[in-house]
Amino acid sequence: MDKPRITVIGSNMVDLITYIERMPDRGETIVAPAFSMGFGGKGANQAVAAAMLEADVRMISKVGDDIFGPNTISNLRSHGINTDYVETVPEKSSGVAPIFVDPDSNNSILIIKGANEDLKPADIDYARSHIENSDLVILQLEINLETVYYTIDLCNKLSIPVLLNPAPADPYLSLDRIRTVDFFVPNESELKTLTGMPVETTGQIAEAGQYLLDSGIQTIIVTMGERGAMLVDPSGTKIIPPLSVESLDSTGAGDAFVGCFAVYYLETGDIDKAISVANRYAALSTTKPGTQKSFLTRKEFV
Ligand code: RIB
Repeated sequence: MDKPRITVIGSNMVDLITYIERMPDRGETIVAPAFSMGFGGKGANQAVAAAMLEADVRMISKVGDDIFGPNTISNLRSHGINTDYVETVPEKSSGVAPIFVDPDSNNSILIIKGANEDLKPADIDYARSHIENSDLVILQLEINLETVYYTIDLCNKLSIPVLLNPAPADPYLSLDRIRTVDFFVPNESELKTLTGMPVETTGQIAEAGQYLLDSGIQTIIVTMGERGAMLVDPSGTKIIPPLSVESLDSTGAGDAFVGCFAVYYLETGDIDKAISVANRYAALSTTKPGTQKSFLTRKEFV
């Protein structure tokens, strides 16, 4: 079987992860137990997860002209990802993400977009040959919304399927301009921001998912962490249960889910199965510290 061809258009960041007992109060200095630096960014994480699961992955992205830029490109290449269209922006910093992980494995993330902000529609045109040769294009929201909309329109014209992970949540995202995506994969808090509806119970999540379906999006997959994932499509709503694990660091679990779902969906054409496999892959990523560092290779996973 040919490898699935996936183009990820989006961000890269350097993650500065501090493991904390608690956040300091204003004006207070406290000691945190540990720190770790690693490669991150939602786009790069999804690309790396898909590449580790042996898809043929290309990334369209921008790095800064600082020490992080070349290292980010080398990291992508070390995973076999095509970086022909990962460009360096002069006089701009790379994206950076200070992250705080608490003892319950919950994370709080700040992102400084840096060069990621410079990925423009013209860059998408420039990389059109990659897009044309893809089985799926994956997008997130750490780049300009105009670039996201432009890519969706181009993929629609070329009949290339699109998966949009609307992360981080952006209240300015126009549902009208993204409703032609094939897969829309928010987590609960992104679903809440986008719909303005409550999402505490699975019943409420189903209603918010139905709202998106009514707005014209065909397939919505809500990642719900320890509750698994919910699939909302024209045939109905179903919950695909999680793998229960002892979580240590949930950073990047949503990205692990997206990268893995994309690979297994393209390989099998079976959405339920791909969600179930992605639930397992994402859960296992939370049992190790770090973002990309916590992702398993296909051999380790299967
Ligand atoms: O989804 C996790 C990612 O969000 C981190 O790698 C961080 O860089 C931010 O983009």
